[in-house]
Formats: sequence, structure tokens, C-alpha cells
Amino acid sequence: MNFEKVIDRQKTNSMKWDFVSERYGSDDLWPMWVADMDFRAPQPVLDAMQEVINHGVFGYHRRPDSLFEATASWLKKRFDWGVENNQLVYTPGVVPAISHLIQTFTEKGDGVIIQPPVYYPFYALINYNDRKLLRNPLKETEQGFAMDIEDLEKQMQEGAKMLLLCSPHNPIGRVWSQEELEQVAKLCEKYNVLVVSDEIHADLVLKGTHTPFAKLAADKGMDVDVITCMAPSKTFNLAALQLSYVVFQQEEAKKQYEEQLQRQFVGIDNPFATVAAEAAYREGEEWLEKLLDYVQDNVDFVKQYIETNIPVMNVIEPEGTYLVWIDMRELNMGASKLQSWLREEGKLALSDGHIFGNEGAGFARINVAAPRANVEEGLNRLKQAYDKL
Ligand SMILES: Cc1ncc(COP(=O)(O)O)c(C=O)c1O
Repeated sequence: MNFEKVIDRQKTNSMKWDFVSERYGSDDLWPMWVADMDFRAPQPVLDAMQEVINHGVFGYHRRPDSLFEATASWLKKRFDWGVENNQLVYTPGVVPAISHLIQTFTEKGDGVIIQPPVYYPFYALINYNDRKLLRNPLKETEQGFAMDIEDLEKQMQEGAKMLLLCSPHNPIGRVWSQEELEQVAKLCEKYNVLVVSDEIHADLVLKGTHTPFAKLAADKGMDVDVITCMAPSKTFNLAALQLSYVVFQQEEAKKQYEEQLQRQFVGIDNPFATVAAEAAYREGEEWLEKLLDYVQDNVDFVKQYIETNIPVMNVIEPEGTYLVWIDMRELNMGASKLQSWLREEGKLALSDGHIFGNEGAGFARINVAAPRANVEEGLNRLKQAYDKL
């Protein structure tokens, strides 16, 4: 559990490290983009996977009840959220799960609300499925970014069928408060809007408390349809193993979704993901707590570094996720000039703000789930580019 140790990920087919050139057009850029971590997974996960290798037989595999039990007990322990095993459906990723949920519960042309700037595949999920994109941009307040509840109601009056909630929010890093979630739930109840709550970052909370939207609605006795997407992938750095799950509140909805998966022949599981997820949920908590401390230290470091060396930029301190949203609007470059400056002068491959929606123009997102030395290298490059301006 040495998060300081730099592990060379180059030439391992790592998307973050080995596909920079393909994505950014140059291979001398320092990668701070993809949301995965430069850390090894917890030791119990590695041991469990090693056992599967030692056995050496990789025939067809089904997810065992013990995985359901480990997942349910994790949700209970971390969020005091009681989920029965028969509410869960495992899926090979949150993004495909959302696509299947859109297909199952909406029709072509139906309105789906998102809250930009937001995780950019949400746009593709709605557009590729020929649904109507309804935008409810976050607003900037004195206290930071917040939901625009008035505008949300307007979008619902447009006839929205679904709200794609990002909780905690990527890239802003907000961990939504119970009050904010309750306001959303009230509107969804009033306008009969189904909430698909993407809670993939739920375990990565630095400040505040994550409340599963479905738990909040149930605790308040509200009549809101909610389907939750979660995964151990961000939490324990297991994204390549492609395991996530969807939590249903209604049996009928779960049945419809499973039928949709059957029609698309989704459902072959792999044993590495099973044992990794189970080991992570049963034995990974201590690792996670240390990770969160390390990430918070990196966030503090970024804040301090930028305040001291690049005061024209402003760090939006995340309450959750290991992603830091940096406000670069005072540089007064348009989105495309800022993008080329970051690449050509900064030699950085980070996530340009405008890809999360127009509201993100002038911002950039960096990933700080990396050894301090890696984060520092990226910041030094940013400073050098700034000093030359
Ligand atoms: C909000 C959000 N949802 C989903 C994903 C990706 O999920 P998956 O890899 O399980 O498809 C990410 C990854 O960054 C994310 O930030």
C-alpha cells in the first residue's frame, strides 16, 4: 500500500499511458486524463486473482451468491443502504448499463436530462440511442457549483422521461447533499421522471457523505422511480475487469432490464472480475481509507501549488472523486486555443473542459490518483507553460 511508488505503466496497453499519441496526436505529453489510477489494486485482490491463475481453467463462469453477499454487505456498511441480493444485476460496465437502461425504459425521441458540464459519454449515450438531450447546466454560486433546480423543473416540463444523475458529480467533484437530492426527488416524483443515478464514484468521498439517491427516496417515503449504477472499478482500480452492477427498486423493472440484456446476449461473466470484486469488498476497506487520505493530500498539493505558482488559475476543490476541475478562464483563451496551449506548450494530456459540455470551456480536469511525483511533473509542465506566456 505504497501510493508513493511510481509504477511504469508504459507498454502495458494502458489507455492512459500508451494511447496518448492516438488521442492527442503526440506521444511526449504527460498523461493526466483517463479516470483510472496509477496504483496497484489492493493485495487481497491480487491474491484472489492469482489463485484463479494457479487453477488455470478459464471455462464459462457464473457470478456466485457470495459476490452478491459481499456487494450487499459493502453497501450496508458504507452507506447504511440495505439492498437485497435479488435487487442486483451485474453488468460489464456502467456506460453499457446506462445504454441498456435508456433502451429499456425510454423510446426514441424521449427526453433525457443531464447536468453539464458532465461525464462526456452521457452525450453519446443519449445521442446514439436517438433520445432527446435535455440540458440542465449546473450553476456557479458563491459556495461553488450547485444544481439549478428551477431550470430542472423547466426541463421536466419539456416532457423528460429520464434524469441521468451523476452522483458524486464528474468532473465538478460535488458530493450532492441530502437537501439537494431531496429537491431533485420531489421534482421527479411530481413529473414522473425515472432517475438513473450513476454512483460509480460513491466510494470516493473526501468531504461530506454520499447518499444513494434510491435510499434517500425510500427513507423519505417518496414515490420516485430510481435505478442505481455502481461498481468497484473506480474505487479499487479494477476498470479493465469490466464489472459493475445495477440496483433496482422494483422487481418488474429489473425483469424488463434482464430481458433487454438477454436480447443483446450480455451476460457471460469472467472469474477474475468476480474474485477481484469480492476480495475488494470483503478486504479492501483499509486500502480504500488510505487511498482517500492520499488523494486528499494530492488535492491539497495541487491547490497549494497552483495558488503559489499559477495564481491566475483556480482549483475547484473536489468533495469526491480523484479528479480535480481547474478554472483557467482568466487566461482568456477560447476553448480551442486553451486546448492547443495545454498540449503544445504544456505538453500535457489532460481532459479539456469543453468536452464535458460548453459550460466546461475554459476549464480542464486533471486526475490526481497517481504518485505525488507524477502529479508534480504535470503541474511543473503547466507552470512552465504559464511562465512563458
Ligand atoms: C460518472 C462515470 N460513469 C461511468 C464511468 C465509466 O464506467 P464504466 O467503465 O464502468 O463503463 C465513469 C468513468 O470515468 C464515470 O466517471
